[in-house]
Amino acid sequence: MEIKVYKNAEEIGKAAGQLYVDYINANPSCVLGFATGASPVPTYDYIAESYKQGKVSLKGVSTFNLDEYCDIPREHKNSYYTFMCENLFSRTDIDMANVDFLDGNADPDEESARYAAAIKAKGGIDIQLLGIGRNGHIAFNEPGDEFTDEAWKVTLTQSTIDANSIYFDDIPMPRYALTMGIGSIMRSKKIIMIATGESKAQAVKDMIKGPVTPACPASILQQHGDALIFLDEAAAKLL
Ligand code: F6R
Repeated sequence: MEIKVYKNAEEIGKAAGQLYVDYINANPSCVLGFATGASPVPTYDYIAESYKQGKVSLKGVSTFNLDEYCDIPREHKNSYYTFMCENLFSRTDIDMANVDFLDGNADPDEESARYAAAIKAKGGIDIQLLGIGRNGHIAFNEPGDEFTDEAWKVTLTQSTIDANSIYFDDIPMPRYALTMGIGSIMRSKKIIMIATGESKAQAVKDMIKGPVTPACPASILQQHGDALIFLDEAAAKLL
């Protein structure tokens, strides 16, 4: 793991965003794995701004996202699909035919097999972007007894519901989601993790300094050969 500590989330957005811009310019047909949530937003802003300034094009880029809620339409304002459209895709020239997403309303087993095959057909994910939950989750792989492999249907924990329900003002937050498994994440060639804020400090410490255990799913990243961790000072506080 390579750890980089920045002053704040905005500085991470610039550094991680520039890394993406450089990577896409060098590899215009790359395959990127994206995450939702607050952590990647400054990075998406930077990429979108770079596109606006003519410094990068996402025309040839293919993407896969980590996860999607079950039991809400894809077009719902709180779906992760909508999140990505608003925060990145609609702000760039990405070809939506190259955007793949887990379908939270599909049969979980069939959808898992479809997603794994689609990722394989593209030659695997070049860079997977991750955030971390306060409980150490990555994607929606919550603390548990074993590391998962391909995409699967997860029952969200109370900690995740508490963290995310603030975004749901018209319907109750879904209780289930489809998520890429730990195995799929680990098969990505490079991983970029962004963690900001003091509420992530304990999870960050467990991820970096603790044992590799499914009780802290992010700890598996210790075993990835190319994992770059961007932290702000608050998230790095307990290191
Ligand atoms: C989202 C995802 C989650 C988030 C995590 C942190 O696609 O996979 O694991 O990365 O819950 O969320 P934020 O960034 O909102 O703190």
